[in-house]
Amino acid sequence: MISDVVKMIPVYIMGRKYEVPYGLTILKAMEFAGYSLRRGCGCRGGVCGACVTIYRMPGSYKLKTGLACQTQVEPEMHLTQLPYVPANRALYSIKNVSAGDSDIVALYPEMMRCLQCGTCSKACPMGLEVMDYVAAAMRGDLELVVELSMECLMCGMCAARCPAELSPFNIAMLVRRIYGKHVLPPSPTLKNRLNEIEQGQYAEQLRELKQTGEDVLLRMFQDLQATKGASV
Ligand code: SF4
Ligand code: SF4
Ligand code: FES
Repeated sequence: MISDVVKMIPVYIMGRKYEVPYGLTILKAMEFAGYSLRRGCGCRGGVCGACVTIYRMPGSYKLKTGLACQTQVEPEMHLTQLPYVPANRALYSIKNVSAGDSDIVALYPEMMRCLQCGTCSKACPMGLEVMDYVAAAMRGDLELVVELSMECLMCGMCAARCPAELSPFNIAMLVRRIYGKHVLPPSPTLKNRLNEIEQGQYAEQLRELKQTGEDVLLRMFQDLQATKGASV
């Protein structure tokens, strides 16, 4: 039996009690408990933002947030996943948006209602200074927004907790797009690579990939991930 070799701990998933092995991540504990995660699970490696979870520890009133694939379960933890936040996202064509701050405010006027309360920064499972990048967006300091928000996973938790109903992550995405399109010089490396593709330099490899079976592609992907993991 599992309990003979592994310490089991009680956790509450969506209000229901389960015994799960100590040391599992929330994601694996949920699967151990029988949940099949079709939403709320993506990369399993802390980069896609699909598995954001709200939890509370016993004796504490605080609601905490974490990535289910990166956060370990603790005894008596109460948790639920929030795999999607229906946050406001402005519609625009980046070609028609200028680098001036007035266009950002026009697309997200609610941004000016920011209370500077810091709730978004506290809620961010990546530990980003969300309030500071919102303040930078209000000042039109695009470079700082890019710098402070670069590691955003688009999980939406900052928007879910914002009392002024802003979507900080979507504002930051707009700013990064503006910065890439209108401020940064075009990348010569990207231009060269596009030329190479257009000239057919990778046509043979692409043809081979298209004919490769799904299981082989998956193994290739996993090998690539392992190589990347080993090199960091
Ligand atoms: S900034 Fe917002 S959307 Fe981005 S990782 Fe943090 S909480 Fe998630
Ligand atoms: S939670 Fe909302 S109101 Fe508070 S600092 Fe963040 S963006 Fe501003
Ligand atoms: S599954 Fe992608 S960040 Fe957790």
